[in-house]
Amino acid sequence: MEPLSLDRRRILLGVTGGIAAYKTAELVRRLRVAGAEVQVVMTEAATRFITPLTLQALSGRPVRTELWDTAAEAAMGHIELARWAERILVAPASADFLAKLRAGRADDLLTTLCLAADAPTAVAPAMNRCMWEHPATRENVAALQVRGVQVWGPDRGSQACGETGPGRMLEAAELHRCVIEWLQPGPLSGVDLLITAGPTREAIDPVRFLSNRSSGKMGYAVARAAAEAGATVTLVSGPCALEPPSKVKLVRVESASEMYTAVMDRAVEQAIFIGAAAVADYAPAASRPEKIKKDARTMRLELVKTPDILAAVAALEKRPFTVGFAAETDHLKQHARAKLERKGLDMIAANQVGGGLGFEAEENRLWVLWPEGERHLPTTSKLELARQLLALIVERYEAKNSVQDSR
Ligand code: C5P
Repeated sequence: MEPLSLDRRRILLGVTGGIAAYKTAELVRRLRVAGAEVQVVMTEAATRFITPLTLQALSGRPVRTELWDTAAEAAMGHIELARWAERILVAPASADFLAKLRAGRADDLLTTLCLAADAPTAVAPAMNRCMWEHPATRENVAALQVRGVQVWGPDRGSQACGETGPGRMLEAAELHRCVIEWLQPGPLSGVDLLITAGPTREAIDPVRFLSNRSSGKMGYAVARAAAEAGATVTLVSGPCALEPPSKVKLVRVESASEMYTAVMDRAVEQAIFIGAAAVADYAPAASRPEKIKKDARTMRLELVKTPDILAAVAALEKRPFTVGFAAETDHLKQHARAKLERKGLDMIAANQVGGGLGFEAEENRLWVLWPEGERHLPTTSKLELARQLLALIVERYEAKNSVQDSR
């Protein structure tokens, strides 16, 4: 017998206040038929549109509605429930719920669970078209997407309020298809991927160092996109203020030489290596053990070149698919292609620095080059760009493997 497409997958299904909640009943039924375990959590407003009893009967589990329900909490506490969830889908998601999710509020059971859970989250918005088109909702949705929340729909059409336009929740069959696609193993599942990110710090003395403007945002976004695609990700990071993406193994380093060691210790076991760190090119020849006094009017600092981590990985006999970055202020493509060839890389992602782009910026754009081709990825958020870059890496990685397999 064919295994069910959602066999024992654990879905926490949030229901917020909206007339579209009647479609959620059909969605619960379909998810159950496909084999999923569905735990419904309703807001107080949702219970005014559809009864918990209906969703309890369809899901086969008591519906949770309150944070302060001591009997339910004793059976499975809300933190336990947050951990239980493999995926969170909120359908319908009201404008109010999207605002709360964006703000990180936790004033009822559903918002608390969304904040406490580590699980990938999707929302199926449903609301009046003016509410959907309001700048406040547009901003909330955009911010949630940047954070990685999937937004499914809404559809256009006639609305319960008598108006016509965007705001209808997707039909149950459509949401069911989205869930199945969402739970398929990613294209990199079972693939080990190592990535460097952030700046490095090269000590001058115990209190001073040389570094650069890298925020680590692009590298962290690529690490996150790789984890989303199912890869087992190790992130070797220089000092930066970012939270590591969930399910990513973080190795913290300070200097280029520490980064070199951390990477070379692991590189041969990896299928893919991405060098996104802004590694300092030079480090002080010797770091002084005591703080340098400011007595002299001038001082000289002797610098020596740091090891080129990316080139060293690319030169390994048994090497991973190797991807580099190139930040350039001029002749972007020519310099990047020269770097691709000089360092013997499989792919390079080049970005223009200066003019508000590149380091520390929220958005970016890239030229991606490989030996036989190139592609431009236009300006967008770093997370979206990272996902597009990763899709290209997967494409070229699979193409290279299939050529090697056919030899
Ligand atoms: O040669 P350049 O520094 O412009 O190359 C940038 C690329 O090389 C980036 O992918 C960066 O992570 C990597 N790199 C490195 N080790 C260095 C210098 C750069 O891995 N010492």
